[in-house]
Amino acid sequence: MNRGEALDSVKANVENKNLVKHMLATEAIMRALAKRFGENEEGWGLTGLLHDIDVELTEGDMNSHSKLGADLARELGASEAMAHAILAHNERHGVSCETKLDKALFCTDPLTGLIIAATLVRPDKKLAALEASSVKKKFKEKSFAAGASREQIALCSEIGLELDEFIELGLAAMKGIAADLGL
Ligand SMILES: [Fe+2]
Repeated sequence: MNRGEALDSVKANVENKNLVKHMLATEAIMRALAKRFGENEEGWGLTGLLHDIDVELTEGDMNSHSKLGADLARELGASEAMAHAILAHNERHGVSCETKLDKALFCTDPLTGLIIAATLVRPDKKLAALEASSVKKKFKEKSFAAGASREQIALCSEIGLELDEFIELGLAAMKGIAADLGL
């Protein structure tokens, strides 16, 4: 599977543009994390890109979400390691995050939401001038974008990243694809 095929498949299965953008943002951060750790950038990026491919197909059924996604990813040619990360990102299945890839996807998923919310409260609604310090401040405001689990984001410690560095890396990665995100 190449990236174009993966993205086509995401777009074929997910109509909601904001959800597609969430997957693109997750891909960008996963690529940056892989680069930071000397891991497989393509594999980590594709894992991020595909991780919610089943989100509309499963229609909010959290007991099937990510099980179907892992199967679809396998059909597209994803490795078992990638499929495992996709499966484990939904805690409902009781599949724990074991590998660095699993853990990276798990903590990246909610970080995209926090950064997008921090962008949308700006007067210009643009990522370009958003500073990491603002995102860090928003991280501490528990009621802000409460759906973006702070506990889950903070699990970046398990892959050896301080929270500050994770936020900086994530923000820079998303700025790199700001045009694709429309932000
Ligand atoms: Fe997600």
